[in-house]
Amino acid sequence: MEPRPEDPARADTRHHVRPSAPGADTAAGEGEGYRVINGGLSEEQIAERVVDYDDDEYGFVKMVRSALVEAGVLKEETPLGKLHALAPPKGRRKNPFLFVLQNDLRKSKEFAAALHRFVRQEICAALGVSRVAYQRRPTFRVHMAGGPAQGFAHADGLEPYNHQPGEVNIWLPLSKVHGSNSLMCESSPGKGDFHAFEAEPGQFVKFYGNRCWHYCLDNKTDDTRVSFDLRVVPMDLFDNNHDGPSKTLTKKSSKKRFSGIKPLKLGEYYMDSDAEFDEQWQQMRGRM
Ligand SMILES: [Fe+2]
Repeated sequence: MEPRPEDPARADTRHHVRPSAPGADTAAGEGEGYRVINGGLSEEQIAERVVDYDDDEYGFVKMVRSALVEAGVLKEETPLGKLHALAPPKGRRKNPFLFVLQNDLRKSKEFAAALHRFVRQEICAALGVSRVAYQRRPTFRVHMAGGPAQGFAHADGLEPYNHQPGEVNIWLPLSKVHGSNSLMCESSPGKGDFHAFEAEPGQFVKFYGNRCWHYCLDNKTDDTRVSFDLRVVPMDLFDNNHDGPSKTLTKKSSKKRFSGIKPLKLGEYYMDSDAEFDEQWQQMRGRM
């Protein structure tokens, strides 16, 4: 399966190199004496934070476990962090756990409804806003203990992904994350103080992955990481016509090449947190 162009962490090559000065953008006109940085987000909105929430209220861990058990790839007694002890897959594309989460759970109405509530109640609060556009299909990750790094170093707002600058990343572990099973990130754009997120189920990490570079390492811990992540934009900053991923993302061998840029639209890549869920679900399910 080719990496999806809109997904900054599913690329097919990796290099841990950060270009110089991935800084803030200047949105105001010259001579106005006013500089809009970070897409209009406040310092607090772009700050890296580990936020507590009640996972029982949304059931993410339970849904993940149930999906894997029903698919026959997880035993009832096995913690998610020990998936590697069951059927160590060789390589991401043969990872049966990830396949189930990406192709079954992620497309289920139960998960989508829980996510919608989670965004409205937890993410909006974490950003101090009442309404956001959010990535309607989060990306699940299963980073096996002993497995290689996935993806490559990048910032979502820069080439080749070009996500809009008002976007904030939400990264939610479903098993304990620490050290090399986690995501390495700098704490603010260009700072270069790369460190691993430390968190556990019942917490999510808010960070400005749009300009903060991030990458994974070979997982040398004894714990597999199961997580999902999504991107959100406060609605008052959302730009439905922002240039999206560029054509440089596709490989010549891909059958799904597209030409030029690909804006990530509301109602397609993003969903409105104020939308009535059942109505939106009916409209969107054909695009899942
Ligand atoms: Fe990313």
